[in-house]
Amino acid sequence: MTSGRGVWITLEGGDGSGKTTQSDLLASRLTDAGRTVVRTREPGGSAVGQLIRDIVLHHRGDIAPRAEALLYAADRAHHVATVVRPALARGEVVLQDRYLDSSVAYQGAGRVLDATEIRDLSLWAAEGALPDLTILLDLDPAAARVRLDSADKPFDRLEAEQAEFHGRVRDGYLALAAAEPERFLVLDAAASADEIADRIRTRVDSLLAAC
Ligand code: TYD
Repeated sequence: MTSGRGVWITLEGGDGSGKTTQSDLLASRLTDAGRTVVRTREPGGSAVGQLIRDIVLHHRGDIAPRAEALLYAADRAHHVATVVRPALARGEVVLQDRYLDSSVAYQGAGRVLDATEIRDLSLWAAEGALPDLTILLDLDPAAARVRLDSADKPFDRLEAEQAEFHGRVRDGYLALAAAEPERFLVLDAAASADEIADRIRTRVDSLLAAC
């Protein structure tokens, strides 16, 4: 991202792809190396965002697809302006669970809205901000469902969608990564957590060395 001196890393992937585990591992490693790490997420990385998160994930009943896209974009606009940009300006590492690629994959591919329009909406909301690195944990939705079932937690609105929806989300992510290979690191989320963490470490180390 051009507006700050910090480094911005986002994690993406379907539900159950293991983002939290990898984010935990990377955060402790960077903190041990003396970096100040801001961990955040979308939706819900700000106080306003928490309210929006509650609507998009837990509202009982339908939300029109375009309204859903706008809610995620509103969360993003506030989050980037009040959390991400200030942290980058302070020279910190922002480690973020989900960003605009989630909107293109879930609202674009998943809800079958126009991917370019969804991306443009988010770019407008975030005044063009793009991460330095996006780690995509790619997993077959059937394998992800087994993980989610074994976690024994109630599904949110998106997790509760059908297999076809999650298949489209995965394809949407892979198309994004193919279009921007320099920003994306795509990893097989079926590999062991240690293997994935090693690959992330190598890439993040070279990113930090270049900054
Ligand atoms: P969350 O509990 O944060 O899930 P995860 O641990 O999988 O990140 O839920 C976020 C949900 O919101 C997830 O199902 C993906 C969805 N989502 C969108 O549909 N569009 C978006 O722009 C974002 C950021 C998330």
